Amino acid sequence: MLRANSALSSSETSLAATAVPAVRFDGASMRYGQTTVLAPMEFAVERGTRVAIIGQSGAGKTTLLRLIAGATAPSTGLVELWGRDVAGLRPGRELARLVGMIAQQFDLVPNLSVLHNVLVGRLGEWSFGRSLLSLVWPREQRLAFDALDRVGVTHLAHQRAGRLSGGEQQRVAIARVLVQRPSIVLADEPVASLDPARAREVVRLLTDVTEEQGETLVASIHSVDLAREFFDRIVGLRNGVVQFDIPAFSIRDHMLEDLYEIEGLRSEV
Ligand SMILES: Nc1ncnc2c1ncn2[C@@H]1O[C@H](COP(=O)(O)OP(=O)(O)OP(=O)(O)O)[C@@H](O)[C@H]1O
Ligand SMILES: [Mg+2]
Repeated sequence: MLRANSALSSSETSLAATAVPAVRFDGASMRYGQTTVLAPMEFAVERGTRVAIIGQSGAGKTTLLRLIAGATAPSTGLVELWGRDVAGLRPGRELARLVGMIAQQFDLVPNLSVLHNVLVGRLGEWSFGRSLLSLVWPREQRLAFDALDRVGVTHLAHQRAGRLSGGEQQRVAIARVLVQRPSIVLADEPVASLDPARAREVVRLLTDVTEEQGETLVASIHSVDLAREFFDRIVGLRNGVVQFDIPAFSIRDHMLEDLYEIEGLRSEV
């Protein structure tokens, strides 16, 4: 049994040595009433891997990510992060070190400045008192500015988040996860609101920054081309069932046709 790692970085070497996956589903499923939205799954993500989840609207992509994030408990089975049952992790600090999620709607606080929205990513690290002090904490502000710089929006630091465009909000949400520094980053349709050129830029940014920090990335994404270009593995979900789970380079058009139930789908979809 793994020790509770209050500082993940110090135990990362031993975790890697024992090859404990970053994420593991052991028969985890999700049901709402009589409806199964995610069938029992066996699924593992190795450290540092980038996994894209694709599938039609309603296939269960967000549900899968929420289970990894510990935002919802599975109806059956277990979800483990680094060998530890997510259900046993303390919400807040302990969970925030392991997993951070960029939600489908970004979850920024519209009336707060960009800077303060980014600082929310540090909350998992702090005691309550220090969290309150954070709004004037220069060291933390420097971290936030560094993150904003990394995603190219320092000039927006003092704007209210609610006034930003979709693409700008997306960058701020990435900056927030950068300062949180979880070992597993989840992104739910990170480029849904962007035009194709911006979408590519943002996916590149997300994969670059998570790679730099040695993080594991699991993202749901509608663009198969981006999944193929930037991710190691593609998982196809259909009606809550994993239809395929393969290296990104080996995906073929007929798999997509089946997944999306479309006739004669071309590779540019
Ligand atoms: N809290 C809930 N109560 C009941 N049903 C739910 C709940 N959350 C999700 N569902 C259902 O579970 C199914 C999967 O939803 P989910 O949001 O995971 O799909 P998705 O693949 O992320 O879709 P999209 O591409 O539209 O974001 C859907 O049919 C949805 O209606
Ligand atoms: Mg979704």
